[in-house]
Amino acid sequence: MGRVKRSRWQANVKSLEIINKARENITSEDIEFLKENYTSQGGLLPKGFNGGSFFTPTHVAKFIVDALQIPKGSRVLEPSCGSGVFFEHIPDDCKITGLELDTTSAKVASMIYPDAEVITGNALEHKRRDYYDFVIGNPPFGETIEVEGRTDFETLKYTKKTNMSKGKSEFAFVEFAVKAAKPGGYIAFILPMNFSFAEPAKKVRQVMYDTCWHVATVKLPPTTFQYVGTGVATQILILRKVTPNAQKIRAHPEFLRPYNFNGKRKIKYIAKFFEGQTPAYMAEVTDIGYGKDGKSTYDAKYGTQLDALLDDFTDGNLVRSSLYPHVPSWMNRGSINGYMFFNEDCEGYRDAKRSYADGPYRWNEITLGNGEGRSWDFTWQDEIVTEYYEKEVAS
Ligand SMILES: C[S@@+](CC[C@H](N)C(=O)[O-])C[C@H]1O[C@@H](n2cnc3c(N)ncnc32)[C@H](O)[C@@H]1O
Repeated sequence: MGRVKRSRWQANVKSLEIINKARENITSEDIEFLKENYTSQGGLLPKGFNGGSFFTPTHVAKFIVDALQIPKGSRVLEPSCGSGVFFEHIPDDCKITGLELDTTSAKVASMIYPDAEVITGNALEHKRRDYYDFVIGNPPFGETIEVEGRTDFETLKYTKKTNMSKGKSEFAFVEFAVKAAKPGGYIAFILPMNFSFAEPAKKVRQVMYDTCWHVATVKLPPTTFQYVGTGVATQILILRKVTPNAQKIRAHPEFLRPYNFNGKRKIKYIAKFFEGQTPAYMAEVTDIGYGKDGKSTYDAKYGTQLDALLDDFTDGNLVRSSLYPHVPSWMNRGSINGYMFFNEDCEGYRDAKRSYADGPYRWNEITLGNGEGRSWDFTWQDEIVTEYYEKEVAS
């Protein structure tokens, strides 16, 4: 075991000693120690024993929360909360619920954040539906997840013999988040990069396409999780759950023409999106701005690439500035459930890379464009959500 792993291991052992102390003997230094040092088993135990427990660096959790501009009083769910890394950055006054399978991590989260509702157990058994304003977090990747009996999850497969429904953890967590979010609510998850293009993820992409507006995809560098010893390629995916009154309509007529991709082949593509779909915000961060020890590697004056991205998200509302829009990357794919792809083989990516060699690279992907009587429009989505709630209140 290397030096970094050994010190993480020792810190976890000390954390266990703290959580086993009688409540009255726990000091504020103990709580601070847990917050700074408890990292669970991710990268310390062989795969299969760690429950996908790779905790999020606090600066990345902060970026997600800040980018969403969570209003005070919101109901926020973190469905695989670990030690509660995301909780720290959520504004006071929010009603936070954390779900966590691992009893030690759940205990740590509830000790550090006593005002949060932390529920120990399998997230998929949580029954609140259409309830949360925000569902955020970093679900376990690549684990098999199961729940007893038949479910309404499209990403889980029921086996009669065992009476269990099984599936891949990150797919089921995204579907769960869609169910738990209220219409018009936001979902922001860290997910493996291959979620956007891998064949096995097709079903969950279809679920997202049928239930959500795509707000943003931010590709993170492989160094993001280096402090817990993994170089997995990840992204932040931000979605907004559509309201039942939103209809799918045809994309800008320009996209209905056969499309000549790279001069190689022509694809005739009939794309439909939920009305109100804004140009999706795409970005790639090339340097996370923090070293293995979690300390900033940037000059405080200029900030990190994540800081630069934050400006795009917070100019009044969530991603309201339209960067130079490009033909979407799904145009060269054969299926519509590819519209959340982050495709390095697209024009937007190439142009952004040419313009800002060091990164971050940013661009918009046209979805509805300015078609169907609406110009580039960032208010349409809100109008649809407002109309839905006005009708709901009236009925
Ligand atoms: C990738 S870690 C992330 C933890 C935390 N969200 C963070 O970002 O630091 C995934 C977490 O999911 C938990 N987990 C795994 N399966 C779960 C399940 N079925 N329900 C709830 N939590 C689960 C693991 O114990 C682990 O703490």
